[in-house]
Amino acid sequence: MKIIVRADSTECGAAAYEIFAKGIKNGAKVLGLATGSTPLPLYKEMIKSNLNFDNLTSVNLDEYVGLPVDNDQSYHYFMQENLFNKKPFKKTYVPDGIKAVDDPEGVSREYDQIIKDNPIDIQLLGIGRNGHIAFNEPGTPFDSLTHEVKLTDNTIKANSRFFASIDDVPKSAICMGIANIMSAKKIVLLAFGENKAAAVKKMIEGPVTEEVPASVLQKHPDVTVILDQAAAAELDDKYKN
Ligand code: PGA
Repeated sequence: MKIIVRADSTECGAAAYEIFAKGIKNGAKVLGLATGSTPLPLYKEMIKSNLNFDNLTSVNLDEYVGLPVDNDQSYHYFMQENLFNKKPFKKTYVPDGIKAVDDPEGVSREYDQIIKDNPIDIQLLGIGRNGHIAFNEPGTPFDSLTHEVKLTDNTIKANSRFFASIDDVPKSAICMGIANIMSAKKIVLLAFGENKAAAVKKMIEGPVTEEVPASVLQKHPDVTVILDQAAAAELDDKYKN
């Protein structure tokens, strides 16, 4: 793993942008994209750049089950608002959260096929405080493919502030599996803030174990981890440069 430490999330976004820009210049055609607060500094850099994305395909990690694409909490909506409206891609894929209400298995197998047909050149990731990657929580098998994930009561409760009532909060999501993520040629993981420091340390220094999903990245041949000072705080000095 290559580890880059920068002063803050803005500088981390710029460092991540350089990797994506270089990859695109060198022929990358498919980007694996993510939602949440972590990707935003990179998306801001992409938007203000003069890079053209209309030759590129994107494949997103996950989507809530049951939210229409125009619901402002859906990941479709997030991607439109934070990247695609400003930088149109040739083709974008996000799992179909409405079709998944009745057929999560069918949607999952279709998504695996999409990833097979569009092998991911550069995959962007964040990390959860418990070491999750996307919705792949501790205990998810390393050989998992796209699957439906039931959200924990805690997550449902935490998300309820964005919805009119707790009954409107999605109860599950469709998520790329760990094997799908590991199939990307190159992986760039960003983490900011002290609340990520313990997970970052386990990912980089700890044993490779399904109890820390991100630790699987130690087995990938081309991973760059980009951290702000706070997220890097618990790392042994030998990993910082
Ligand atoms: P965050 O989430 O970007 O909102 O911190 C990252 C994650 O949980 O994967």
